[in-house]
Amino acid sequence: MNRIFLSPPHMNGEELLFINEAFKSNYIAPLGPMVDAFEYEFASKIGLSHAVAVSSGTAAIHLALRILGVGYGDEVFASTMTFIGSVSPIVFQGARPVLIDADPQTWNMDPNLLSIEFECCAANSRLPKAVVPTDLYGQCADYERIFECCKKYDVPVVIDAAEALGARYNGGSAGAGAQAAAFSFNGNKIITTSGGGILASDDKAFIDRARHLSQQAREPFPHYEHTEIGYNYRMSNIVAAIGRGQLRVLDDRVQKKREIFRYYSDKLNDVPGIEFMPEAPYGRPNRWLTVILITPDEFGADREKVRLALEAENIESRPVWKPLHLQPVFQTYENESSESETKDFYNSTLTDGKVLCRVVGGKVAEDLFERGLCLPSGTQLTTEDLDRIISIIISCSKNS
Ligand SMILES: Cc1ncc(COP(=O)(O)O)c(C=O)c1O
Repeated sequence: MNRIFLSPPHMNGEELLFINEAFKSNYIAPLGPMVDAFEYEFASKIGLSHAVAVSSGTAAIHLALRILGVGYGDEVFASTMTFIGSVSPIVFQGARPVLIDADPQTWNMDPNLLSIEFECCAANSRLPKAVVPTDLYGQCADYERIFECCKKYDVPVVIDAAEALGARYNGGSAGAGAQAAAFSFNGNKIITTSGGGILASDDKAFIDRARHLSQQAREPFPHYEHTEIGYNYRMSNIVAAIGRGQLRVLDDRVQKKREIFRYYSDKLNDVPGIEFMPEAPYGRPNRWLTVILITPDEFGADREKVRLALEAENIESRPVWKPLHLQPVFQTYENESSESETKDFYNSTLTDGKVLCRVVGGKVAEDLFERGLCLPSGTQLTTEDLDRIISIIISCSKNS
C-alpha cells in the first residue's frame, strides 16, 4: 500500500507553466516579476492591500515583530497551542513569550484569559509589545474580541495565519483587521510553494519596511550600502512561480478540505468517545487538517493506539501540537513574582540554553494534546482512502 500522508502537496499543473515562464525570462533569482505578481495576486485574493513574499511563515512573523520594535526585555503574548514557528521569532528578538491557553470552544487563544492577563499587566505597568494569536488548524481566532482587548491597551496584533489561508472570519479573510498577518506555504499547507511565506497588511509603510529588511536592508545605492542589519528572507522568483499556480486553486482546495472534514464527521461523529474540533460560529475554517479528540474511557483506546494502528497500515496521522509551555526548550513560570522571574527578568535565554517564558493557564491545551489526533487531510484523498482510514479508527473502538 502506498503511504497516505497527513497533508501532502497537491500540484495542479499550472505551476509548471509559471515556472517555465520564469526559466524563459532567466529570472532565476530572489526577486523578479513572478514575486511581484504573486504578491499582488495574493493580496487581491485575500483582500488585504499589501504583501511581501518571504522564505517562510516564521520569517514573516519575525519581520513583523522586528518592525514593531519587539526587543530585549519585552513580553509578547502568543498561543500555547501552536507550532514553534509562531513563537520562535519572539525569542529571536530577545523578548519573552507569554503563552496563553486555548479556548475549549475554538482551541484558539482564549479571549477571556487574554483580557484578564492584560488587566494584570496594565496594573503592573508592563504591557506586552505585541500579541500573536494563531489561527489553529485553519480556524480563525476570535479576532473581534482579541482586537477589542488589544485596542484598549493600544497593543498591535500580528495574526499567525500560517494554517488558515482561505478561512473566513465573519465576512473577512483570515488575517484581516490586524496590524499584519503571516501565512505559510510550507509543503504541508493548504497551498504550497515547497517552502515560503507572506506577510500581508493594509499598512503600506509596514510592508515596505518588511520588504527592505527582508533584502538585507540594502539601501538604494549603486553599490551595497547598509545602515542597519536586515535578513536574507526574500522569496525566489521560481518559488513564487509555484505560488501563482497554487493560488489559482485555493478555493478548490478549501472546498475539498471541508468535504474531507464532513466525510469524516458524518462517519465518526456518532462513535462514542470521538469528537471533532468545534467550528466557531463567527467564521468558516479552511479545515486544513481534520482533527479529532479521543476520550479513551468512552472510545476504548487512546489517541496513541489509534495513531499506531493507522501507522501499521502506512497511514500518517499526528498528535495535535504539543503545547509550547510543555516544550523542553522553555522554562516556564506562572506569574511575575516567581523565582525565575525575580532572578533575571531581562535575560530570557538561560545558561543551559532554555528560554524563560510565562504561561497563562495551560490545562485546556494539555488536554487537547493528550486526546487530539490530526487525521490525513490531503486534497487528493479518495473516498476509498477515507473509508479505509475510518474503518481502522473504528476497529480500535471497544464497540467494534
Ligand atoms: C501555526 C504555524 N505558525 C507558523 C508556522 C511557520 O511557517 P513556516 O514553516 O513556513 O516557517 C507554521 C507552519 O509551519 C504553523 O503551522
